[in-house]
This record gives sequence, C-alpha cells and structure tokens, in this order.
Amino acid sequence: MVKAWINDEEADFPHGLTILQAAQKMGVEIPIFCYHERLSIAGNCRMCLVEVEGSPKPVASCATTLVKNMRISTTSPLAEKARKGVMEFLLINHPLDCPICDQAGECDLQDIAVSYGRGSSRFLLEKRAVPPKHMGPLIKTDMNRCIHCTRCVRFCSEVSGIAEVGSVFRGEHTEITTYLNQAITSELSGNLVDLCPVGALTSRPYAFKGRPWELAHTPTIDVMDALGSHIMVDSRSNAVMRIKPRTQDAINEEWLSDKSRFSYDGLQYQRLHQPYVRNTNGHLVPSTWEEAIQATARFLKSQPPSQIGALAGDLVDVESMGLLRGIFKTLGSPHLDCRQDGMTIGTGPRSSYLFNSTIAGIDEADFCLLVGSHPRHEAPLLNARIGRACRYGDLPVASLGNVHDLTYPVTCYAEGPTLLSHVMDSKHPLKECLKKSKKPLVIIGKKAFQRRDGMAIVAAAAHTLERIQGIRADWTGLNVLHSAASRVGGLDVGFVPGPQGKNTKDILESCHQGHIKGLYLLGSDDVDTDKLRHTFVIYQGHHGDRGAQVANIILPGAAYTEKDGTYVNLEGRVQRGYSACTPPGLAKEDWQILCHLSQALNVPLSKPTLEEVRRYITRINPVFSQVNQAPCTPWTSLGDGGPIENTPFENWGAFNFYQTDVISRHSVIMAQCQRSYQQSLEKKGDVLCG
Ligand code: SF4
Ligand code: SF4
Ligand code: FES
Repeated sequence: MVKAWINDEEADFPHGLTILQAAQKMGVEIPIFCYHERLSIAGNCRMCLVEVEGSPKPVASCATTLVKNMRISTTSPLAEKARKGVMEFLLINHPLDCPICDQAGECDLQDIAVSYGRGSSRFLLEKRAVPPKHMGPLIKTDMNRCIHCTRCVRFCSEVSGIAEVGSVFRGEHTEITTYLNQAITSELSGNLVDLCPVGALTSRPYAFKGRPWELAHTPTIDVMDALGSHIMVDSRSNAVMRIKPRTQDAINEEWLSDKSRFSYDGLQYQRLHQPYVRNTNGHLVPSTWEEAIQATARFLKSQPPSQIGALAGDLVDVESMGLLRGIFKTLGSPHLDCRQDGMTIGTGPRSSYLFNSTIAGIDEADFCLLVGSHPRHEAPLLNARIGRACRYGDLPVASLGNVHDLTYPVTCYAEGPTLLSHVMDSKHPLKECLKKSKKPLVIIGKKAFQRRDGMAIVAAAAHTLERIQGIRADWTGLNVLHSAASRVGGLDVGFVPGPQGKNTKDILESCHQGHIKGLYLLGSDDVDTDKLRHTFVIYQGHHGDRGAQVANIILPGAAYTEKDGTYVNLEGRVQRGYSACTPPGLAKEDWQILCHLSQALNVPLSKPTLEEVRRYITRINPVFSQVNQAPCTPWTSLGDGGPIENTPFENWGAFNFYQTDVISRHSVIMAQCQRSYQQSLEKKGDVLCG
C-alpha cells in the first residue's frame, strides 16, 4: 500500500494508482475531459491539474502515478488558477452554441465552465472555424466544439478495433476526422456520442429532437442480441426518443452496439394497432379482441392436437413462451419450437447451450477457438471484448471455418468440424495451442449449431475440452454463442418439441405438405412463410412483417420497450425488462393476450396477473427465480453426440448486421447504416463477402 495525503487527509492506497484514481477513491472530485477509465491515458486536456508538494508546477493528476508520502492539494490556489487558465484556453475557440447544442444539459464543458470559467473573454481575435466532418448516418459533427481530448480516437483503436478516426495537422490547426473522410464502419460507433465530453459528436437521429430534462428514463434490457445489455430507454409522450447504455461490467461494460442504440425508430413503423381476422373473402378485417380471441380458441379446439404447432421468435419474453407452451401442452400438441433459425441444439443439459465461461470470463482466457462463429456478426460487444483481450492481453484466436474482418488477427483453419473429434490425437497445430492453454475458450457459433450435426459438434468440443482439463470446477471452456435474445429463455422454459414433436424445419415442412393445419407464430417472422400458404396462421406480434402477411388471425402484441418481461442472456443470466411506453392502439402485452386465450380455451394456467404468470414459469423451471444473479450452471457431461459430417462450415456471406429482426428491418436509421456501410467498403475497394 502507498500512504499519501489528499487535501490534508491521510489514506493508504493500492500500488499503481494515479493521483486522479486515488482522489476518486476518496470521493474527491477533480474535473476531467480526456481521461476515461476504460481508455488509455492521454493526458492532453490538462483540466485535472493538482498541486503536489515539492513540485514547482501543477501536475496532471490522471497521468501521474501516486508515490509514497505524496501530499496533494486539489483545491489550492495554484491548482484552481491552473484549471482556470486551461478553461480560458479551451473556451478561446469554443462557440457560444449552448442554446442550440444537443449536448446542452449533459455537457462536461458546460458543467465545468460553471466552476472554472471566467466571467468574460479576454480574447479579441476571430475564433477558429473547423468544417463539420462526415462520420456516417449516426454521428452528427460540429468540430468547432471539439476540445481535442482524443477520446474518440482512442475508442476506435482500443475498443472497436477499427482505427478510423484520428487527428490531422498540428497545434491550433489540429482537427479530428475520419480517414479519407469516410463514414465510420464500426458497429460500435454510437459509443463516440457518449464518450465525447462536448457537443462535437452528437447523435444524428436525435438531433434537435429533445432535451435531457424532458425525458423519462426507464432502465431495461436490450433484445437486439443475446447479450442482454443493460440500457436506458429515454422516452417522451409515449415515444422512445433515444436509447443509451447503462453500466454493467459483467455484460456490456458501458458500451452498446449501434443496432441496440439506434434501431428504435423501427418501433414507430408498420405497427399492428388492432386485432384482425381474415374473412371468407380472404381479406384481413379489423375485429375486437373478443372476436379475435374467440376465433383463435375455436380454431385451436377444432383441430386434432397433432395438426397444430407453434413457433416463437427471437424477441419474445419468457412469460409469453411459458404461457403458450402451457396452452399447447394442455391441448396435447408436442409441435413447439423457439429455435426459428433452425438451431439443432438446446434439448440437452443447460450447460450444453450456454456461454459457460461468461462474458467477463473472456478477459481471463488464454486461448480462443471459434467454431463456425463470427462474433462480430453475432454479438459485436462480445467481439470487442475478444478484440481487447487479443490486443492487450495477447489472447491468440483461431477459427475453424473462414472468418474475416473480426477487427483482430485470427488464424483460420480450413478444416471442417470433424477435426474437433480427433485433434488431440493428430499433429495439427491446434493440438499444441489447446494443450498449452489453462483457460481455453471454445466458442460455437451459428454456422455450427444450425447444422444437422450441431449437437455432435458441441459434444466433440466438450470431450476435447474435458481431455485437456478445459472443463473443471473453476472453468468451463465450452461456449455457445446465441444471437437471439429469446433463445436461452425459450430453451429454459421448455419451448422445444415434446415427445414425438417436430422441430422448426419439420413443422414448416409438415405445414407445406398439409399434415399440420394450424400454426401459432409468437413473434416469429424469420421463417420460410412460403411454406405456410395452405396453413391457418395465428400471428401474435408487434409488426406487420412476414408473419402477419400470411396470418388468418392477427393478435397485436407489445415490443420490448412496451412491456415488462423476463429475458435470459446467453450466459444464463435471468434479467427483467421494463416498459417505457404503452403499446400502440389496442395492442396488449403478450402475457395478457395469452392469459385471455387460455381462459377462452378453458385451460387457465395462471391468474391473469404478471406476478402469477412469473410464479407459473418458475414452477416450470426454478432458474427463473434467480433474477439478476451471476450465472452459475454446473457442467453436465455430454454423451456421444453422434457422427460429425465431413463438410466444411458454410460461408458467412454478405454482412447485414443492421437488419436482422422485425424492429431493425423497419428502422430507417438501420437501412441508412447498411447502405453507408456498403458504400464505405466499396470505396475502400473491399468486398462484402465473408
Ligand atoms: Fe455549450 Fe457544451 Fe455545446 Fe459547447 S459543447 S456549446 S459548452 S453545450
Ligand atoms: Fe474529444 Fe469529441 Fe473532439 Fe473527439 S470529437 S477529440 S471526443 S472533443
Ligand atoms: Fe488529465 Fe485530461 S483529464 S489531462
């Protein structure tokens, strides 16, 4: 420990802290602009100057390490005078834009200027003008306001891994810009808006739309991928105005992907406002809730249980899946599946479909093997963690199957997954990497678990890990990387085929052949609806997308920002989302619709309150009572998963990260992002193929 005095108060601090970190530990506030706890230290704004006994000049507290017996004053006249000097220089070229600046009300410069700014300026010359820069459809720039803190530059090179932003020219001519004035291609670019301490980089979609004090803030959970990032939904007059990340070190730290942050405009378009029933002329006509629910109940009761099925989509909450599963179980139908993407794993022990090492565990791993996975497509924030471990922790990354553009170096092996079953008995270079590793991280992605032999690949990876002690009491190296927010919850609540039940692929095929006559789509749109031309489809969801187009009955539900719901993230962490707005028109929260339907069917599963529904799903699986607890699923050994087919992993194809679900497909902002991403790559002469 290091003994030091801060403002005459003595304390012991751990070794290696900077003066700023020590002061923060004591609750002493020092103004900062360029320092950020998750970025490297730049020490270039000088706002954090403090006086250190024995030093003739004030020192930058963020860039000075605390040493034994240091006596620091953060409030001495010297420190205060130095900060006032820094502030005066910062404001020399800063425009007086606060009334029209989107940062006003949450601007660090505005706040700190209240304490350290002079009443008037002594600068009589003209202010410097810097033209705005093009950074793409998400970031609006006003570079007159830039204070050259370089947070944006450091974020791009250190966190997103794509060094697209930098500073050009020198001295008072310094400008921050993207290289070649191109739009930023990183899918984490929206974080620059949060990082910029002034109004130089602001959100383009939110420009001039609102002020922070007008907004209601609702802490909830993101559903755009399976990470379960913590977000804050800011709303006004029942409309989502913006989405920002909340800090959760174990999941998203304080970052958010662009799809999670900016796809909210998709919540406004093509919404289902009221129930519809298709009439005898084949037209969908508006109906009352009672008519729609009674028509649904009549149809479900009229069919033999073996001729009805249900599929759940990627954004659905656990409560709804639990209730629909209960209804179908009571009716006697085993044809249920929450894996609309055709995933073939998920019916084994819980640890066989989770990201067992946990997201934070990536920082501890010493070798990473991707198996049919492209984390940048599937979970960008998880990819950023791997990238950071790679760049700063020397984590070696290898991949079975070709992947490119992950933002860090990867050694790709062309071999197919069969290698997993005999790698430890071979002379393959992977054998040595796995053998040397104490904490191996094997990540099994979409291209592996969607194959027919998905379970065999998972089992082979598990057996290899067991052989090298990569699965033990303190470390489970087997990880499945889901990309749908509802997937783990759906598997946990048992929304999978029952005995003799069919999976998604077989259900769709049976619909096509007329063996299944009726299909309940619970927010399920990403299936081949061509196969449903002769099927009676009941669609419950929030957007008039592919599912609603083929529906005979439409039951309008609520989007994730409009309902309270439970989601389980890919690590198995049970989390609660909360409603920021009410559903539009006559739409209802999904659990309410299903309670109503169960009553109409005379199969009441729980009393129609959310608490009762939650008790009901907890009876199905007690894991749902462990809300917000760190994931801890004991490993269960897997048996023989069967033979692995000798075919290589499918190519990843064109990268359309921005439009993957009903909300992002209806988002104008996401469409602009995809276009801008393509144009940037084309200009760079790159190709879109994986
Ligand atoms: Fe005002 Fe801050 Fe905007 Fe500058 S960046 S104009 S200080 S709100
Ligand atoms: Fe800092 Fe913002 Fe300027 Fe980037 S644009 S250097 S974050 S002030
Ligand atoms: Fe210390 Fe900028 S915060 S120099």
